[in-house]
Parts: sequence; C-alpha cells; structure tokens
Amino acid sequence: MDGFASLLRSIERLAGFKCSNYKEDYIKRRILSRMRLTNTADYEAYHKYLLANPQEVDPLRNALTINVTRFFRDPEVFEVLQRDILPDLIRRKKTIRIWCAGCATGEEPYSIAILVHELAILHRDINVTIYATDIDTGALKKAVAGIYDEKTLENVDGRRLRKHFIRRDDGRVEVRPHIRDFVKFRQHDLTSGASIARYLDIVTCRNVTIYFTEKQKNELARLFHSALAIDGYYIMGKTEYLGREVEHLFTPYNIAQKILRKAM
Ligand SMILES: C[S@@+](CC[C@H](N)C(=O)[O-])C[C@H]1O[C@@H](n2cnc3c(N)ncnc32)[C@H](O)[C@@H]1O
Repeated sequence: MDGFASLLRSIERLAGFKCSNYKEDYIKRRILSRMRLTNTADYEAYHKYLLANPQEVDPLRNALTINVTRFFRDPEVFEVLQRDILPDLIRRKKTIRIWCAGCATGEEPYSIAILVHELAILHRDINVTIYATDIDTGALKKAVAGIYDEKTLENVDGRRLRKHFIRRDDGRVEVRPHIRDFVKFRQHDLTSGASIARYLDIVTCRNVTIYFTEKQKNELARLFHSALAIDGYYIMGKTEYLGREVEHLFTPYNIAQKILRKAM
C-alpha cells in the first residue's frame, strides 16, 4: 500500500471519515492544508505526525468538512419554501417531517424553522419536526448553541431579527427557544447508507455532495428517495445535480431552485 492509501486508512480509523466516498482531488487538497500547517513535507511525514499527535484529529476532521453556510443562503429557495411548498404541506398534513442533511452550524435548519413558525402559527394543530444532521460534531455543537455573529444574518430582515433572535451583551445574537424547539440536531454520516427517519416530506441536502464521488452521489439520491414520503420534496444545492442513473427517481418541481419531487 502506498503512503497516501495508508494515510487514508488511518484517517478513516481515527477520524471516522470515509475518504473513499469523496473525490480524491478534494481529499488531497484538504490534507495538504493540514500538511502546510503542521510543517510536514509529504503524506508519510503527515501520517507519522497524525499517529503521534492525537490532538491533530480534530483539526484534520475540520479541514475535511467545509462548514461555510449562512441564514437564508440562496434566498429564492426559501421564498419557494414559504410561498409554495410549506403551504402545500400544511394544507395536506397534520405531521410534517423535514430533514436538513449536512446542516453545518445550523443556519439552514433554523432558517426553515423561522418559515415554519411564521406559517404554522396559524395552524396550531400541525406538528413539525426538522431533523438536522451533519458528520462534523464541532459544527453541530455550534448549531446546538445557536449563537451567531451578525455577519451570518445579513439575509435576515429586521423584523425577523427582533422576533426570532436575542441580542447578547457580547454583540452576538442567539436563536430564540420558539425557533430552536422545531429542530433536532444529530450526528449522522450521509455515506453510511442509513436514513435519519422515514416518510419525510422535505429533504434538503445543499452544498454537501459537491465533493462526493459520482457513485456516492447516486447512493445518496437513492437513500433520499426511499426516505421521502410519496410526493416529498428534495432540495439540492444550486451547483449540484442528479446523476443519470438516478434521474428517474425524481421529477423536476422548480428547476431554477434545484427542487425535485419523489417520482414514485
Ligand atoms: C458547505 S456545508 C453546507 C451547509 C448548508 N447545507 C448550506 O448549504 O449552507 C457542507 C456540510 O456538509 C457536511 N458533510 C460533509 N460530508 C458529510 C457526510 N458524509 N455526512 C454528513 N455531513 C457531511 C460538512 O460537515 C459540512 O458541514
């Protein structure tokens, strides 16, 4: 086994990160970023460093998972959710289940929770759960804390800011309990083949699969298809797409916003 392959095996064992499901280029770039910071010259040297320094596992895991996100990222998607998708579900259902897969530090599920709160408040008999998952436990810790710098809130208007957030003494803002209560955060690996729940009405998995191999993307599309209820919605990231092999599992709902529906 060459030095790179043997390093990947250790990463999988120590960090629980299955590198083989990601594009090799991506993994190499992320490892190189750690090699620069740890002054290690090649994969073998970095491998030795990793084995000798257990404290390197966390920063390596952080480097492998890119957590960039913000509230109401791509606002048009949230407009479609607010105007069309959530009202459709509220009309038809008493229980609504949403899975926000690859939720990073929580801004996306909390944005959905704000919409749900604003719409469902008129329908008190409706029960909504948002499952929010990520592989990165560090990101999930921040998500659970629900405390943010104001710069991640630039797409949140003043009315929502006052209604759904508390301004703290340190200048940061905190999500209010009536929004938090909708969201259940859990650690979950999207390459594990397991779903977080069944009969889901919406799955959002945005800006997560860009670095997955084609095979892994197809497997994930199959997983989401089986986890969705009939007519359930699948929301992808703006630059993500469905592979040929799995296209037939979904029908387009809003092509511009990359929103699909379960086909059968
Ligand atoms: C760029 S963020 C996207 C956050 C949010 N969905 C958005 O669009 O703003 C990508 C997230 O995917 C997560 N991720 C990467 N691989 C994953 C996996 N195998 N299982 C679960 N989450 C994963 C990363 O930890 C990271 O938090």
